[in-house]
Amino acid sequence: MLWAGRYLIVTDHYRTGLGILKALEHHVGTLFSWGGSHAERQAASTRFDTAAVKLLAPIVAHEMAIADGYKLGFFQELYQGLTRFELPFVECQRLAGAHQRYIDGVHLAVLGHKLHPYFGTYAPSRVSHLELFGTWLSQYEGPRHRVLDVGTGCGVLAFMLAKAGFGDIVATDNNPNAIESINRDLMRRPSRPPITPILGDLLGPGDTAEDLVVFNPPWIQGKAVDLLDTALYFEPGLFQRFFDQALTRLSPNGQIVLLFSNIGTLLRPDLPHPIEVELSKGRLKLLSKLERRIKPKPDAAGKRRKTKERVQVWTLGRESG
Ligand SMILES: C[S@@+](CC[C@H](N)C(=O)[O-])C[C@H]1O[C@@H](n2cnc3c(N)ncnc32)[C@H](O)[C@@H]1O
Repeated sequence: MLWAGRYLIVTDHYRTGLGILKALEHHVGTLFSWGGSHAERQAASTRFDTAAVKLLAPIVAHEMAIADGYKLGFFQELYQGLTRFELPFVECQRLAGAHQRYIDGVHLAVLGHKLHPYFGTYAPSRVSHLELFGTWLSQYEGPRHRVLDVGTGCGVLAFMLAKAGFGDIVATDNNPNAIESINRDLMRRPSRPPITPILGDLLGPGDTAEDLVVFNPPWIQGKAVDLLDTALYFEPGLFQRFFDQALTRLSPNGQIVLLFSNIGTLLRPDLPHPIEVELSKGRLKLLSKLERRIKPKPDAAGKRRKTKERVQVWTLGRESG
């Protein structure tokens, strides 16, 4: 039924919803090989999402009105004025998971404290690139007055920059949930770091001259279906716009610092490398490039799979600087 585009409502038990989703996953898995190419896996996941979103759960008085369903969490905060409605079952799962993450917080060793990513906000699940940025920061000898953290997400790089003594940190994101997230975390800190969150595209509005423009961009070229996806996938033109804007905001000896990975090249070696493309234009030069292997997460058997993936920190300055 879901597969054919019809809607279903779970009315009895939470496990009924889980069972239907499992059957749907199995159906998609038999149509597409999960061991297939990146494009095939993306297509399979889109077909699953399109069907799964039609499985609904009733929400009454901010609780899933089925046995063992989730209670409260973000239902009350996000749907204050609505007491009776239906939500996709998968959305209820997402809201519950996001609420747990928000309440528990995510401990980040590079900060030495937790952040509490708000619903719909990107938060890092791996830390190799953050550790590499920490190494970069410990070697940085330039001024520490003004810095822009572009695409701040849950704010981890902005908080690292504050810890490293930067005086004026502007943290931008085009996702309003990310701005809500960092604002809430700023309020939790015993003394407020000098971070100003701003909702906007890339560098946001302003004409200040920055010592640093830091960006951990999406690493893979692809289609972003929703705002959260724009944390992972970039569409053609994003890097060109970023470099155009950064060049208007960089102090004469300012530096652009990009956290990146070779994952995009491993997946699609045929696509141009967005940073190399910019460097070939002669506006910016490469000042340094740090690189290290990622530490893969252990699988269920405790084994770490081998990977060719590397994380990188690229530092660029004006060609004339
Ligand atoms: C890979 S995440 C990095 C988040 C965080 N800086 C970190 O290092 O964990 C990329 C972030 O860039 C944001 N982003 C993507 N496109 C953007 C745009 N055009 N303008 C502003 N932010 C953008 C996403 O919302 C996401 O928060």
